[in-house]
Amino acid sequence: MTNSRAVPQEQIRHQLEFIDFIAHMQRDKQPRAFTATYGCQQNEADTQRLAGMLHDMGYAKADSAEDADIIVVNTCAVRENAENRVLGTIGAMAHLKKNNPDLIIAMCGCMVQQEHMTEKIKKSYPQVDLVFGTHALWRFPELLYRAMTGDKRVFDISGDAAGEIAEGLPVLRDGKVHAWLSIMYGCNNFCTYCIVPYVRGRERSRVPEDIEAELRALVREGYRDITLLGQNVNSYGKDLAQDIDFSDLLYRLNAVEGDFTLRFMTSHPKDASHKLFDTMAACDKVAKQLHLPFQSGSDDILRRMNRGYTAQQYRGLIDYARSKMPELTLSSDIIVGFPGENAQDFAQTLELVRAVGFDMLYTFQYSRRSGTPAAEYPDDTPHEVKQARFEELLRTQDACAEPRMKAYQDKRLRVLVDGESRHADYPFTARTDGGLLVYCAGNGLEIGSFAEIIIEKTALRSLFGREVRA
Ligand code: 5AD
Ligand code: SF4
Repeated sequence: MTNSRAVPQEQIRHQLEFIDFIAHMQRDKQPRAFTATYGCQQNEADTQRLAGMLHDMGYAKADSAEDADIIVVNTCAVRENAENRVLGTIGAMAHLKKNNPDLIIAMCGCMVQQEHMTEKIKKSYPQVDLVFGTHALWRFPELLYRAMTGDKRVFDISGDAAGEIAEGLPVLRDGKVHAWLSIMYGCNNFCTYCIVPYVRGRERSRVPEDIEAELRALVREGYRDITLLGQNVNSYGKDLAQDIDFSDLLYRLNAVEGDFTLRFMTSHPKDASHKLFDTMAACDKVAKQLHLPFQSGSDDILRRMNRGYTAQQYRGLIDYARSKMPELTLSSDIIVGFPGENAQDFAQTLELVRAVGFDMLYTFQYSRRSGTPAAEYPDDTPHEVKQARFEELLRTQDACAEPRMKAYQDKRLRVLVDGESRHADYPFTARTDGGLLVYCAGNGLEIGSFAEIIIEKTALRSLFGREVRA
């Protein structure tokens, strides 16, 4: 079954032809491509698709922008500082272009999907040859061909906000252990601070057949840790003709044979249901890990964020999830300094952090995004006050995380070894089922294999363990 929003296969074939044209054009060279990614896992997954196309066009991987024939910068628009970092990076590339006029500099992703940004790049960043937005990602081969063969800069931020899904394009993953698997794109929630629904368009789900086929291929290739991606995975399937929700999808994927772990992100509390937690508890391959952003502990702020739940409802969800999965690893996102946030609102955020007890928090200072409703909200909280709140939040979380991490001391855990570390005494990195980082030691450890370990030492953000021989 195909999705009604699927890009027609003949258009995908057309892109594959452009890949072949470019590969042919470069058959006597050994060109190199450098990619840089800002922002979320979805962006990392998108870059891996671009890397797959570049690979098939004949590009080898460049280790740095300095030795590249093409540079692709995949951008993020969620906060202003990410945008500023991108512009700094692009600005610094002007001299590379001077030294090598044949160099192609491309920018893509969420930041350039905004019209005012494209205008800025047109005017102030002449070194950029190619700009394409999130909706044009699958047309990269054709756009690059035009940039290589034409004498004009190429800009394409067209595309339907209702969105399309492109299946059948190549992908080149980093490493051999961990893989991203996109199950849906876009977001319909319109939280008032967030730019994502404007730059990534409406929610659209891949059909389960395509997702399962990709999972099977990954497992066959030896990937052991697979993260299902979507801006809001809990609304998976709502746009599909068939009757399927995220829990149904988890059951279906859990039934795929093989020794692997499934994770997912991100969940929205408004759509996280008891059914989801029952499913997680029942599915042996689904990691007992939950990233459930609550953003603020104040009901007033939550309402003005358009989040669709209260702090009490959030706590109820966590209580239920923990009753089903006592070992659950829990993380969340919080925004500090939302317009109008007062001392009492912030105190409620701290209270929620203390009451729930998170293993990990991702904390952000509010960043005004033009075009979003919150950008128009009045705000009289001074910057220093926001900064002080932010620091207090970090201290509070550290104080909560410490005993949680200490509780792992001397525990026996099954981990997946996923890389080499810089610790001489613990030369491998590994992940627990809950996704915590463990530095490991042991002669029998092998990257890409599961191992039994005993925790010897704990720190605030990681654990240290030694292999237990059977
Ligand atoms: N300012 C600060 N943080 C933001 N996020 C999204 N938009 C903004 C913004 N305008 C945060 C939210 C979200 C995470 C991915 O980024 O916490 O969950
Ligand atoms: Fe942004 Fe809210 Fe959608 Fe997350 S759920 S991407 S915070 S609008």
